[in-house]
Amino acid sequence: MSTTTTGADARDEEPRPGGPADSPFVRACRRQSGPHTPVWFMRQAGRSLPEYRAIRANVAMLESCRRPDLVTEITLQPVRRHGVDAAILFSDIVVPVAAAGVDLDIVPGTGPVVAEPVRTLTDVERIRPITRDDVSYVDEAVRMLVAELGATPLIGFAGAPFTLASYLVEGGPSRTHAKTKAMMYGQPELWHALCGRLAEVTLEFLRVQVAAGVSAVQLFDSWAGALSEADYRRFVLPHSAGVLAGLADAGVPRIHFGVGTGELLGAMGEAGADVVGVDWRTPLDAATRRIGPERAVQGNLDPCVLFAPWPVVEAEVRRILEQGRAAPGHVFNLGHGVLPETDPDVLTRVVALVHELSAESGDRG
Ligand code: CP3
Repeated sequence: MSTTTTGADARDEEPRPGGPADSPFVRACRRQSGPHTPVWFMRQAGRSLPEYRAIRANVAMLESCRRPDLVTEITLQPVRRHGVDAAILFSDIVVPVAAAGVDLDIVPGTGPVVAEPVRTLTDVERIRPITRDDVSYVDEAVRMLVAELGATPLIGFAGAPFTLASYLVEGGPSRTHAKTKAMMYGQPELWHALCGRLAEVTLEFLRVQVAAGVSAVQLFDSWAGALSEADYRRFVLPHSAGVLAGLADAGVPRIHFGVGTGELLGAMGEAGADVVGVDWRTPLDAATRRIGPERAVQGNLDPCVLFAPWPVVEAEVRRILEQGRAAPGHVFNLGHGVLPETDPDVLTRVVALVHELSAESGDRG
């Protein structure tokens, strides 16, 4: 039997006791018991940390994502500072799209901006399938991180086809996703061609991360909540399901997350997730009723609550832990990413509180 520990081989083996695949975070994703409820924060690596801002002072965002030394350091910063139960790779959802040949930039304070928005089939065909060599810096960074992190699991991630398509079709961030929806409704063949190509790129990007040793993956469909359930099922779910199915035998849990997706939680689980991310609008017990007993849940703390006085934060943490008991597995997290103005000390206190309360109450994690 193989003794390598890459994700692809790990599926046939019992997780090594004390290793990342046996960590409280991975166990909760798999709906197994653990010593405490695991906690990490979406966008934990980033602008709320002064040590991050110092590193990024003279380096553009995309460039920092392409430098394994910087990726490693930025990914480790929140682990050192907060004692979270998982690291998330420092990168961005548009990194693989840029590697596929799309001319884009990440503009501070705005987000991804695409030079020539996708309008035609020719534009779609210009998005090349990627290989490991196109993102070798990610492969390298993940390997360095896995070596540094020891027992702490590393989460790999990618953007889901709808959210990526929205940036590519709009040319940048959009409140209404009007051009995206116009393509979806008006040119369904073009839409499916675009999402099919993005699903290929995304799947390969995640496979590179799994082969390099990540312990879980999260597929961010941040803007899927802009759609009705019927449209989500028709225009989006098949493509996200293709990505998640492509990782079914990878041996790592798959988390699927979007914002404003209360009506989509069941469908997002059906797309092939082991863990469904929940924003702050739907309590975790209600979310679990929609998702069913086969999947764990993650999320729910409103990132804005972190600006409230500590007793308010504490009450919210207690509420979420309590409601999370209704789920077959619970990973504590925010309902969306850490906002840049957040006081990092509050995040550190939340981690300690989640650990303390859940260890006391014997929560499964
Ligand atoms: O979670 C982490 O700590 C890992 C790093 C991470 C980043 N982007 C770093 C980043 C992750 C997981 C992402 C994912 C991402 N990127 C998503 C999905 C998650 C979500 O928030 O819904 C989306 C939609 C994007 C696209 C994107 N990139 C946006 C909206 C922005 C913010 C623009 C801004 O400046 O307000 C970015 C830039 C970005 N990605 C930053 C970071 C740390 C800020 C860049 C900077 O520091 O200059």
